[in-house]
Amino acid sequence: MLICIPDVLDAAAVARCRTVMARAPWQDGRATAGAQSSAVKNNLQIPAEAPESAELGELILGALGRNALFISAALPKTILPPMFNRYGPGQTFGVHVDNALRVVPRTGERLRTDLSMTLFLTDPDDYDGGELVIETAYGAQEVKLPAGHMVLYPSTSLHQVRPVTRGERVSSFFWLQSLVRDEGARTMLFDLDQTIQELQAEHGPLFPAAVRLAGLYHNLIRRWAEV
Ligand code: NI
Repeated sequence: MLICIPDVLDAAAVARCRTVMARAPWQDGRATAGAQSSAVKNNLQIPAEAPESAELGELILGALGRNALFISAALPKTILPPMFNRYGPGQTFGVHVDNALRVVPRTGERLRTDLSMTLFLTDPDDYDGGELVIETAYGAQEVKLPAGHMVLYPSTSLHQVRPVTRGERVSSFFWLQSLVRDEGARTMLFDLDQTIQELQAEHGPLFPAAVRLAGLYHNLIRRWAEV
């Protein structure tokens, strides 16, 4: 499931990110790429250990913690600290798949990347190219979202960032391990949760069928969650 989550950050928070990023140190994006990715990656990143990464990461994770759509879709167990990249004219990230395992910097714990996220921090009018193209079972999906919006997609997908041809594309990218490993199970839980919310909005929170479905939802989480 590929899902766009609107308004993760409001305009003021996006502006804050851009201000802090403007004074951050930048390094070659290949610093964190595996061997295959290195060959096709050409962008800049803020080092994970830079204080700017930590400050903005906290801002983004705080916003995601309050975002019901994100929590319903991702069922996050552990989220890696957000990272930040930028692509100027001619820069690109060719077709690749993200590493399956990553290390959580503060704890040294290993995390399985179930879901990948890109939070757009530049308005689409400010640059040409730079589309995130994700291969799905239904063909390639092109994603280029307004600043403050985020796309969430399975880390198993092949994807690329098309070359930027004008302006600069700035974004945050990161990964999470979900409580529910299986993509199909997670997608069904999301559909069920959204259906329960629709029923509750229409008939009230105590509508008996919604209560029974909520019971079913939690029992499926009991069955499928790794905690
Ligand atoms: Ni990637």
